[in-house]
Amino acid sequence: MIPINKPLIGEEEKREVMKVLESGKLTDSSLDGSPMVRDFEKDLAKFVGVKHAVAVNSGTSALIASLLALNVGHGDEVLVPSFTFIATANAVLATGARPVFVDVNLEDYTISVEDLERKISGKSKVVIPVHLYGHPADMDPIVKLAKEHGLFVVEDAAQSLGSSYKVIGTGSIGHLGCFSFYSTKVVACGEGGAITTNDDELCVKLKTIRNHGLASNHNSEVLGLNLRMPEIEAALVKIQMRRISSFLDGRRRNAKALSELLKESKGVRLPRERKDRVYNWYLYTVSLEKSRDMVLEILNRKGVGATVYYRVPIHRTDLYSKLGYSNLPLPNTVWASEHVISLPVHPGLKDQDVSMIASSLKEAIRTTLKNL
Ligand SMILES: Cc1ncc(COP(=O)(O)O)c(C=O)c1O
Repeated sequence: MIPINKPLIGEEEKREVMKVLESGKLTDSSLDGSPMVRDFEKDLAKFVGVKHAVAVNSGTSALIASLLALNVGHGDEVLVPSFTFIATANAVLATGARPVFVDVNLEDYTISVEDLERKISGKSKVVIPVHLYGHPADMDPIVKLAKEHGLFVVEDAAQSLGSSYKVIGTGSIGHLGCFSFYSTKVVACGEGGAITTNDDELCVKLKTIRNHGLASNHNSEVLGLNLRMPEIEAALVKIQMRRISSFLDGRRRNAKALSELLKESKGVRLPRERKDRVYNWYLYTVSLEKSRDMVLEILNRKGVGATVYYRVPIHRTDLYSKLGYSNLPLPNTVWASEHVISLPVHPGLKDQDVSMIASSLKEAIRTTLKNL
């Protein structure tokens, strides 16, 4: 099976991890963290184009730490899309605040600016645009609305490392940006995350929050948790970051080849990079007019690890249904959850893999249309 994503781990990563094992220093609970963590934070901040990066142990931790740093809690509302990974909304619930679900647009599946404007209330405190599939959300109008209503902007950039909006890196546009380095991500270390910011005070607060809220005098000033990134993961992701240009080039090359091979296909809508944005091509997500699940089954049978992200929108999951969200009118969210399929474009693919993915999709569409 061609996997939907696969980390590329080389000799350099192994050497760096061995260095950690030999040093015996596996983690560090001081405010600034251990040496590999600090090196990685410097490299990430430079790459994203911000003053600070704070490494944590997952993208979920990055979101929770960001909301805690902004004093989000009971009585606050946080605007989030429902068409995203569940962590985006769960981070809000974890703080005691209420997620308010916003629809997406069907052009690139990111948050709908029109629906966002409708959903802002006197209780809104934060908006979390998600750069889904590596497609940057339309940040200018989002930031404008946030300014008008006094909201903080936390970018969920878990899927968008290397994507940019009007030449500005995602994760550097809002007050805070949250990244994930989970195994399938563009740059991976198994479990890991980071928050990026230009705000000096928020940076210190985030470093405190990742370490039980402990200040230098061993006193807890704010609610924190153990969100620290271990040194082995930092060693891995530090080297992965140094290889990011080649990873991104590979993804772009494969996405371009897929678009070329599929351009004449009927019944399938291909992703289109918007003029003012650069995609990192974390996923190549198409939408099918008809029979999505039959096409998916055929692709999987042929050995293509095509996957649906996300089949159940968050507001319709059992957890959120119990909280009373299931009947919200979010038509584009529901449409997307019923029609999208993501195809592999990761840099580990060979040319013949890309050709096989394209021909399998064309054949799957032909077969399902015949059976209608
Ligand atoms: C959009 C989005 N937000 C948040 C997360 C959470 O990141 P992690 O799995 O590292 O906790 C992910 C990870 O899959 C994600 O895709």
